Amino acid sequence: MPPAAESHPPLRVALLGCGVVGTQVARLLTEQADDLASRVGARLELVGIAVRNAAAPRASSVDRSLLTEDAEGLVARADIVVEVMGGTEPARSLLLRAIDAGAAVVTANKALLAEDGPTLYKAADAAGVDIYFEAAVAGAIPIVRPVRESLAGDRVRRVLGIVNGTTNYVLDQMATTGMDLEEAVKEAQDLGYAEADPTADVEGYDAAAKAAILASLAFHTRVSLDDVAREGIMSVTAEDVAWAAQTGHVIKLLAIAELREGTSAGTSVGAAAGAPAGVSVRVHPALVPTSHPLANVRGSFNAVFVEAESAGELMFYGRGAGGAPTASAVLGDVVSAARHRVLGGKGPQESTYAELAILPASAAVTRYQVRLEVDDRPGVLAQVAHALAEHGVSIEAVRQPTAPGVSDVAEPGVAELLITTHAAPESALSATVAAVAGLEPVRTITSVLRVEGA
Ligand code: NDP
Ligand code: HSE
Repeated sequence: MPPAAESHPPLRVALLGCGVVGTQVARLLTEQADDLASRVGARLELVGIAVRNAAAPRASSVDRSLLTEDAEGLVARADIVVEVMGGTEPARSLLLRAIDAGAAVVTANKALLAEDGPTLYKAADAAGVDIYFEAAVAGAIPIVRPVRESLAGDRVRRVLGIVNGTTNYVLDQMATTGMDLEEAVKEAQDLGYAEADPTADVEGYDAAAKAAILASLAFHTRVSLDDVAREGIMSVTAEDVAWAAQTGHVIKLLAIAELREGTSAGTSVGAAAGAPAGVSVRVHPALVPTSHPLANVRGSFNAVFVEAESAGELMFYGRGAGGAPTASAVLGDVVSAARHRVLGGKGPQESTYAELAILPASAAVTRYQVRLEVDDRPGVLAQVAHALAEHGVSIEAVRQPTAPGVSDVAEPGVAELLITTHAAPESALSATVAAVAGLEPVRTITSVLRVEGA
């Protein structure tokens, strides 16, 4: 049991940022002050809130006397620094300054961690202080701690996640209301899910940053944003969404990190001929069968599906964005760091001992659904099938759909084909698609979508 809060001097908490998340962190620190003190064994005293513009209007719950534009000065007088300002600079310099001064740090800044986390981890290690970042991945959902600590005795094989609330909201709205992409993005921004610049969400950068963090933790290997193969949702059309429904799928933006041991080991995840060993980390829209648990993750909710050797399949689900949910994760970290200040001890360090190879995007192995328009005459399907076979891509199913309202191929003599493949390396698929597109009876390749979670 922690000592009575009165027996330990208060811990000074500096808050960097008072936007969507910071406002809620400040509110919870104030409203739950007594409970937090009892849980920690010391009072958590909010000593200042750094913002860009101290004169700007704020929520009524914010104590304006705490606002300051002098972030450096604030950091110098704190035991715990909470960074929820976002961006790379000055966030990085402020956190390094805090660490150098011996403060524990808590951050929700996945962009910074994915770009330059190791600099911060090393500095924290050298200074012997905590660095916590639960809110940086999937908002309120406890996923960093489970992967980093609870599964530390297991062997994680795959992490498959919906880790961006904005794009999940957008894709869900497109599927359920027929809303267009721009309209749905605007709604997500208004609801506080989207980043200040929603490009980070819709182009997949935000999910890629989270994928890099999760992959680093899961595979004890340093993975940065540049290591993540990334595609956003901007090319997903209403027709793709309708087609997905017709074939028993939903489209989700997935973050995937998987361990591949190569075919020689005989146990690889997504094994395919000639697949190299290492870690594949990618973010892209994918068709997910409606029977998969991730297919039912609606609205701005996030979920992370983890496959571990001994634990088996685990699913973590909850709110991945928004002020209060994210503040909950931040506060959890603040309590952990504060307990260490009171009781001694330190949180886990960065673990990179495995140093696995990061595989290029071309080595990713998955199934595909290819939609194309072809001349409707005998022998065309055989030609297409031959092109796939020549590139070592095996066909699982072919459909020539006629679904009204979905297949909008009205031109006489033109047929639409929907080909689902077995798992194949990305490189083989790209070569196949190029070859098929060059066939004389092929009018157009309408879409190529990966199928995951089958
Ligand atoms: P906001 O844009 O809403 O808030 C940013 C805050 O930081 C503002 O108060 C701003 O000041 C302040 N700030 C920005 N730059 C500076 C600077 N140079 N000096 C001083 N203060 C500065 O961001 P969010 O609250 O949405 O996000 C914060 C962090 O949390 C980001 O890293 C984000 O990725 C992460 N996150 C956000 C989630 C969400 O749902 N929003 C979910 C999970 C993580 P001012 O108010 O004066 O402009
Ligand atoms: N913009 C992010 C999202 C916020 O939509 O999930 C949480 O990181």
